[in-house]
Amino acid sequence: MKGIILAGGLGTRLYPLTGATSKQLLPVYDKPMIYYPLSVLMQAKIFEILIISTRSDLPRFQALFKDGAHLGLKISYKIQENPGGIAEAFLIAEDFIGEDSVCLILGDNIFYGPNLEEMLDDVKDHKEGAVVFTYHVQDPTRYGVVAFDEDGEVIDIIEKPKIPPSPYAVTGLYFYDNDVISIAKSLQPSARGELEITDVNKVYLERKSLRVKFFGRGFAWLDTGTFDALYKASSYVQTIQERQGIQIACIEEIAYKNGWIDVAMLKGLAKVYHASTYGSYLEGLCPSNDMQLI
Ligand code: DAU
Repeated sequence: MKGIILAGGLGTRLYPLTGATSKQLLPVYDKPMIYYPLSVLMQAKIFEILIISTRSDLPRFQALFKDGAHLGLKISYKIQENPGGIAEAFLIAEDFIGEDSVCLILGDNIFYGPNLEEMLDDVKDHKEGAVVFTYHVQDPTRYGVVAFDEDGEVIDIIEKPKIPPSPYAVTGLYFYDNDVISIAKSLQPSARGELEITDVNKVYLERKSLRVKFFGRGFAWLDTGTFDALYKASSYVQTIQERQGIQIACIEEIAYKNGWIDVAMLKGLAKVYHASTYGSYLEGLCPSNDMQLI
């Protein structure tokens, strides 16, 4: 399975913060926002990853991750010339996806919870149809929202409904079989001029091949779309990390735990970041006897 992080858009709702940088590179406490969705793909054991962003922002992501080899990843990059919609990612990524299935994650979505890895395990080898994840939110009008019948079966998904049919928003984490490319090609732009991911999901729903999973109570799907939301996301990460002494979305730690990098590589990365507490954390992960090897 391949992974795509969509990290384009103009970020106008966060101006002037995003005047000279990408939204997905803004800090969420101690790391760039894109670390969080990248960590989700890595937890799903996806190591071939395409980052899509704007012409002006893409070089910054390339500077940050290079080819990903230091994390045991294979990262490539593509430009989205204009924000033509989330589903346009599959047209841009057609060659990258090839014959594979694909996981798309939005570069500004933060997921954190105790059972995330198990849930990803359950869907990552998924070869047919689509899987989306929903989350109970207070204000569903800002999202794609799921409608259920009286038996709890999903009957519709509505993008930004004025009157939400349920409190369950579709999150920015999607798993698809290879048909997603031809489905994306068949879409017409919506009233807001975008190829809508909700329209992709509706095709799978009509084909009866859409699985809808729930992130439940105690799980965090955090918003980063406003100044307050961004501040609260940082505060959430800071609170949990300080209390537990465990990092959220530490991509080097995940690479090490996945067996994609060895202790020598981890130690090398810790050295790069030695001046920050992030570097100290990485150093703390290195088994002390192995440290003597370096
Ligand atoms: O966050 C989940 C929601 O994401 C879903 O519930 C909705 O169904 C889905 O349409 C989307 O909602 P938004 O319309 O609020 O997405 P937004 O336009 O904010 O784009 C989400 C991210 O994707 C954002 O970081 C920018 C990036 N993006 C978006 C578009 C439209 C791109 O990189 N390129 C694009 O063309």
